[in-house]
Amino acid sequence: MSAQIIDGKAISEQLKAQVKEEAARLSAQGIQPGLAVVIVGENPASQVYVRNKAKTCEQLGMYSEVHRLPESTTEEELLALIGQLNSNERIHGILVQQPLPSHFDQNKIDDAILPEKDVDAFHPVNVGNLTSGHEGFLPCTPAGVMELLKRTGVELAGKHAVVVGRSNIVGKPMAMLLLREHATVTVCHSRSANMADITRQADILVAAVGKPGLIRKEHVKPGAIVIDVGINRLDTGKLAGDVAFEEVAEVAGAITPVPGGVGPMTIAMLMYNTLESAERAAKRQQVK
Ligand code: GUN
Repeated sequence: MSAQIIDGKAISEQLKAQVKEEAARLSAQGIQPGLAVVIVGENPASQVYVRNKAKTCEQLGMYSEVHRLPESTTEEELLALIGQLNSNERIHGILVQQPLPSHFDQNKIDDAILPEKDVDAFHPVNVGNLTSGHEGFLPCTPAGVMELLKRTGVELAGKHAVVVGRSNIVGKPMAMLLLREHATVTVCHSRSANMADITRQADILVAAVGKPGLIRKEHVKPGAIVIDVGINRLDTGKLAGDVAFEEVAEVAGAITPVPGGVGPMTIAMLMYNTLESAERAAKRQQVK
């Protein structure tokens, strides 16, 4: 193996330590940053993510509420809860865990969260802010990836970045953030022809598809930085990324592991966004 391993766990710990310090400062002024996490149904992976989010809030001295709703919850009921959280002053960030059961219209739920509390950055206002370069929340996983890239010291301007996956959560905002840093960006997806020909041109390759081991050695240019956003639970119970780690690490210049790469960064950025939201609320209070 020749690739440098990008240690997302260690970098996320540094970020969380900074957030903890700022959260304590704000709490001393009477504003404790607060996050509400809502989960509907019993998806086991989502249950783990939600527990981790609440636990991290606690570790960083932030307030958290977890609302666990049954699978049978109606859209009206979920919208009513979001309405209550929107007007709850203790809550600075609201996150509705995805995927929602299929009887929900995800767009309707995204639209219902106040943009000022939308720490996932899924509301169209925040998507628009990101696209146009206005100030707003950055979506947690792509923002975490950018932080990892920054720590490698790579100059993004003029580099070819290829994003595999076009989800609203990762692929699309990831492309926007890379573009903002002046990379030349290509997005590949399930209908892309000759994907390996495209990914082999990447100086920076971001895999965000949810297919274990999709990215093989032949997809990667020697020396490329490879960021693996995939977190896939195998039948054996082990976690695997979208990148075949062992073989790709032989050719890549740097690579993120799974677990311990992008995953911990997502939570750290969520905490950062919640802190940021509380800071903005504090400023609004001072102005009043
Ligand atoms: N499910 C997987 N990733 C995410 C995320 O970043 N936010 C939410 N709300 N749900 C997710």
